[in-house]
Amino acid sequence: MYGGKGGLGKTTFSAATGYWLAQQGHKVLVFSVDPQASLSDIFQRDIYGQGPVEITPGLFAQEIDADTHIKQYQDEIRQQILDMYGLDEVPEEIESYIEAAAAEPAMEESAIFDQVVDIVTEGGYDYYIYDLVPLGHALYYLSMASVYDQWIDKITGLREQMAEYDQVAAVMQRDKVSQEDDILRELRQIKERINLSSGILTDREKTAFFFVLIPEEMIILDTLKAAELFAKFDVPLSGYIINRVVPSELASQDIPDYLRNRIEQQRASLERIDDLFGGEVLGRIPEFERDITGLETIAAMAREMFVSDGGANE
Ligand SMILES: Nc1ncnc2c1ncn2[C@@H]1O[C@H](COP(=O)(O)OP(=O)(O)O)[C@@H](O)[C@H]1O
Ligand SMILES: [Mg+2]
Repeated sequence: MYGGKGGLGKTTFSAATGYWLAQQGHKVLVFSVDPQASLSDIFQRDIYGQGPVEITPGLFAQEIDADTHIKQYQDEIRQQILDMYGLDEVPEEIESYIEAAAAEPAMEESAIFDQVVDIVTEGGYDYYIYDLVPLGHALYYLSMASVYDQWIDKITGLREQMAEYDQVAAVMQRDKVSQEDDILRELRQIKERINLSSGILTDREKTAFFFVLIPEEMIILDTLKAAELFAKFDVPLSGYIINRVVPSELASQDIPDYLRNRIEQQRASLERIDDLFGGEVLGRIPEFERDITGLETIAAMAREMFVSDGGANE
C-alpha cells in the first residue's frame, strides 16, 4: 500500500509497482476504490466497475464501483432488520435512516473496506497493491475494532444483568434477552471481519506500507503527523519514498534562476527529510518531464523505482 496526501504519486507508484512485479513473473492485482477512476487514467483503459482487467500478462487492475456496493450493503441491512424483527417491510423512519446513513462517509468507507477484505481474503494473486485513497482510511477501520470492543462489552454487560432479572421475571424478559443475543452475535461477526482485515494490515510478513512524500515543508509536516498515527495503530511502516525530486545535477548546467531556486529549495527539504526519517527513506524518484500515463511511462517509472541507481534515486 502506498499512503500519502492526494496528488503525490500513490496511484503512479501503485501502477508502476504492479507493472514491475508482473514483469518479474508474478500475478498481481492493483486495485482502487477511487471514484475518480485514476487507474483507468493511468492505464488508459476504461476498467471502472468491470472487475479485474488484465493489462499486461500477469498484471490485473480493478476499480471498484463503491456506489453499487453501498446499495448492496443497504439491502443487506434492510434484510437483517426484516429477519431480526420478523417484519414484512422496513418501517419508514428506519428506511429514511438507512438512506441518510448511506451519505455518511463512514458508511461509504466501511462498505469499501468490506470489499477490500473480500478481495484480499479471496486469494488468487501473488501480490495485491491497494491504491489507497484517503490516508485515514486504514486508520479509521483499525480504530473501529476498539469501538466494537466497547459496544460488545456494554451489550455483554446488559445481557448479564438481564440474566439476573430473568430469574425474577422469567417470562417478561425472555424475548428481549434473545434479541440482545442476536445483536451481540451480529456485532461479534462484524468485529471478527475487522480483526481479520486489521490482522492482514498489521502483519509485517504480509503487508508493506509505504509513505509517499515530496520535498516540500508542508508535506513533510503532514507526513510526520500521519506516521505518528500509523505507529499508534501498529500499522507496519516499511519506509518513505520521495517523489518529484528535480535532478540536482541540473544545477551545474546553465539553467534559469527559476529552476535553480527550485532545486535549492528542494535541497533544504531533502535534508530535513533525511534528518527526520533517515534510514527509512527508500528512494528518491525524479520529476518526470510529463505525467505518468500509459505503459511506456509506467515502465520508465518502474525502472526508476526498482532498477535505476543513478540520477535522483539513491
Ligand atoms: N515523478 C513524477 N513526475 C512527473 N509527474 C508525476 C510524478 N509522479 C506523479 N506525477 C503526476 O502527478 C499526478 C498525481 O499523481 P497520482 O499518482 O495520481 O497521485 P495520487 O494517487 O497520490 O493522488 C499525476 O498526473 C501523475 O502523472
Ligand atoms: Mg490516486
